[in-house]
Amino acid sequence: MTAKALMAGVFGARGTGKNAWLKQQLRVRPPRLVVWDHKHDPTMVDVGQGVTDLGELIRGMKGKRFALRYLPDHSGDIDAQFDLFCRACFLVGNLCMVVDELPEVTKANRAPAAWRQCVNVGRLYRGADGVERSLVIFGLGQRPSECDKSFMNNLDVLHTGRVAQASDARALADLLNVDYRELMRLEDLHWVERRQGQAEPVRGVLTFKKKVASGSQQKKAP
Ligand SMILES: Nc1ncnc2c1ncn2[C@@H]1O[C@H](COP(=O)(O)OP(=O)(O)OP(=O)(O)O)[C@@H](O)[C@H]1O
Ligand SMILES: [Mg+2]
Repeated sequence: MTAKALMAGVFGARGTGKNAWLKQQLRVRPPRLVVWDHKHDPTMVDVGQGVTDLGELIRGMKGKRFALRYLPDHSGDIDAQFDLFCRACFLVGNLCMVVDELPEVTKANRAPAAWRQCVNVGRLYRGADGVERSLVIFGLGQRPSECDKSFMNNLDVLHTGRVAQASDARALADLLNVDYRELMRLEDLHWVERRQGQAEPVRGVLTFKKKVASGSQQKKAP
């Protein structure tokens, strides 16, 4: 899905599989990837090089290929860091931008200006140099009601696991064309998804490949 400049919203209560699903989407690595790893999620360590310095992040966003994961400084100004992160993504362009824990940096009725620009214009825009750019955007959050409306209203892909609140389930059910109670009953790792242009939602369950422990490999017979 990352071949086109799509925007995907990924929702669900804690532990329902948002990051696990995201990682499966990124298995075929976009050549240029930048992640806002809000909570320094240990499951994301293999998704790009962790960077704690915004200057280093921006310097790394050069060339045909990069995979960077920004770890915000929680003792500093998160809004200012997110503003710079979004401005850098927009200026550089032609990349896949992931924002985890979106409600921590946006509010339902207040999207930071730089984020709104990415969301509203990111599908296709021309930079100051006249070159065309686009952004693929993934936003993850537990509750859609806490995400900004520009994002919610522009989604090409809506993907959700179980949600706890009836109001969230109703809002998502409306967009997905399902009964809201189904969304409240989903088991962990079960999901419902609808893509633009699809009348009907698709359902699925996340599965994981078993890792072969290095010590458990069969020894060759002598
Ligand atoms: N490679 C894997 N193999 C087995 N289980 C996994 C793997 N990756 C994730 N899981 C499990 O999948 C579940 C969902 O984890 P995930 O981090 O995707 O949740 P989440 O929806 O992002 O939650 P949160 O809101 O807390 O960030 C967890 O129980 C986790 O242990
Ligand atoms: Mg998560």
